[in-house]
Parts: sequence; C-alpha cells; structure tokens
Amino acid sequence: MSKRIIILNGSPRPNGNTKALIQKFTEGAESKGHTVKCFDLQTMNIHGCRGCFGGGKDKLSPCVQKDDMLKIYPEYMAAEIVVLASPMYYWGFSGQLKCAFDRLFAVAECNPSYENPKKDCILLMASEGDSKSNFEPVEKYYMSLLKNLEWHNLGIVVAGGVLHIGDIEGHKALEEAKSLGASL
Ligand SMILES: Cc1cc2nc3c(=O)[nH]c(=O)nc-3n(C[C@H](O)[C@H](O)[C@H](O)COP(=O)(O)O)c2cc1C
Repeated sequence: MSKRIIILNGSPRPNGNTKALIQKFTEGAESKGHTVKCFDLQTMNIHGCRGCFGGGKDKLSPCVQKDDMLKIYPEYMAAEIVVLASPMYYWGFSGQLKCAFDRLFAVAECNPSYENPKKDCILLMASEGDSKSNFEPVEKYYMSLLKNLEWHNLGIVVAGGVLHIGDIEGHKALEEAKSLGASL
C-alpha cells in the first residue's frame, strides 16, 4: 500500500551529505509508489517553540506562531512515516531539526492529554566520526524519543566518515538508504 512519507531535513547544506542520503532514500521509496515530501528546514522560516502551551486550538493551524511550520503541520498529520534527516552536530540533531521538531508539540496540544499522533520513523544521518561510540549518543536519544512518543523505528542509516560536501560519494550508506526506502 502506498504510504505518505515526510522528511524533515535539518542539514543547512543544500547539496551536502545528508541530502545525498535523502535522495537515495527517496529514490527507493518512490520506486515502490510511496509519496515523499521533503522539507529543507534551512530554507524555511521556523522559529523556536515559545513554551506558551497556548496551541492546539485549531487543527489546521495548531501553533500560536504563524510561520513556515504551517506548511509542515498538515503534511505531518497526514503522513504515516516521518524521516528525521540531519548532519550530526555535537553528537545530536542539528538545531534546524530540533527547532522544527519541538514545534510539532502544537499538534500534540490538539489532544487534551497531549498525545502525539502515532508515526513510524526513520533516522538518516551524516557524520565526520565513524566509530560506534560516535553514533551511540544520538542513537540513544533517537530511540528514547521514539519510546516516549510511542513511535516505531523503521530504520537508522548513518554515514560516518564524511565531513565535506561530496565525501559521501560511493559510501555504503547510500545503498542502505535506498534499500530502506524500497523496503517500505
Ligand atoms: C557545528 C558542527 C558540529 C558537528 N558535530 C559533529 C559531531 O559531533 N560528530 C561528528 O562526527 N561530526 C560532527 N560534525 C561534522 C558533520 O556531521 C559532517 O560534516 C556532516 O557530513 C555534515 O553533513 P551535511 O553535509 O549534510 O551538512 C559537525 C559539523 C558541524 C558544522
């Protein structure tokens, strides 16, 4: 069955290593008839959550801040799968991704008990380091995030050892990302 997939791309580099993973993943997913929509967060006007707890009053426009999150909310609500794509920044997600993710709280606010909509999730990440200990902190964070949201992990693809744009060329993670997309 065809699925709706959204990608939240936290990389600020339009042709960077994260984007290469996204392109391969998308190729795989589209080859199986899935619909993929990628949001390049760096190009969007998205402010940090204000923590006002004043959202959730309007399902179409759940946050009190009226910025480019308004483009993401309806797609997020309709999607079965959310892909978190990011360069590793200080052993975590980039600020662009964390900023947008925090703002998804406004959707949870539409539910009286702040319940998040249930999603399947995927992590795509590029990083300079290439050791198990380098990936551990972010994988642990990602898995605990999913546990708390009651989301289901469909896969993690990490391309280690890539620093500059283009370093990812020929990396085995590209094929892994494509296969993951095609496996959905
Ligand atoms: C601010 C900043 C922080 C970074 N922190 C890490 C890190 O903690 N661990 C790591 O392995 N690489 C780190 N890197 C390297 C990036 O993850 C790496 O260059 C990655 O390939 C960038 O992906 P992109 O091409 O999609 O921007 C950092 C890079 C920057 C600019």
